[in-house]
Amino acid sequence: MSVLLAEIDKNRLPKHIAIIMDGNGRWAKSQGMPRVFGHKTGVTSVREITEAAAQLGVEFLTLYAFSTENWNRPPAEVTALMTLLVETIKREINTLNSNNIRLKTIGDLSQLPERSRKALEDGIEKTKNNSRMTLVLALNYSSRWEIVRASRLIAKKVEAGELKADQIDEDVFKAHLATYDIPDPELLIRTSGELRISNYLLWQIAYAELYFTDVFWPDFRADHLYKAILDYQNRERRFGKISEQLVNP
Ligand code: IPE
Ligand code: IPE
Ligand code: MG
Repeated sequence: MSVLLAEIDKNRLPKHIAIIMDGNGRWAKSQGMPRVFGHKTGVTSVREITEAAAQLGVEFLTLYAFSTENWNRPPAEVTALMTLLVETIKREINTLNSNNIRLKTIGDLSQLPERSRKALEDGIEKTKNNSRMTLVLALNYSSRWEIVRASRLIAKKVEAGELKADQIDEDVFKAHLATYDIPDPELLIRTSGELRISNYLLWQIAYAELYFTDVFWPDFRADHLYKAILDYQNRERRFGKISEQLVNP
């Protein structure tokens, strides 16, 4: 067993880990290969990290797979990513089922190519009764899209007289986000050395612990995940209080 894994306190695991999988292109370049090779290799990391998280007992794992801004990439790369998505989902459904993992998505699927959307809907349907962990893919997702959408949904309810403006509070707002049935992540990991959030889960990470690593996503392995969790477990989460007010476990 991994030395790092043995050090993790299983009673204080983050319930929800969110990851910005970054650095596929730079990783490929470092190997003298085209960017798409990095995306393909990144799937190996997705598989390993999903299994490692589920085995640990993490309940939700959200992976940033395609942002609304990623449409601005060269068309050939966008097409390659969409194709990879279909192939991967189709290939992995059985593994998800044998590992008792439920697939979900957040983001605007209506803008995805028909084939990609169908593959996803099929994967979601076939894994919907699994209960060990939920794997959430953020696809054609951005926080600003999500927050504007929530505002519009709420405004429509007010317009229709179903809700009063004064009734809008944090709980009502949260209930209209794409993550309405998912707890906020306690830990956010970004690979590849970039120190930014890139329009990811802005509302949900209000109190998340942020962890940045220089490792490129295709090199990210279970031990890197364990290291991030150990780092998280060594932090003091004060939520506005002072140290002395916290009850030590
Ligand atoms: C992350 O890797 C994958 C996606 C955004 C789809 P990148 O493709 O962003 O790789 P870099 O950041 O250019 O190295
Ligand atoms: C964020 O990575 C989006 C995903 C990981 C899917 P990017 O590589 O697109 O982010 P920026 O543009 O460098 O901030
Ligand atoms: Mg990137």
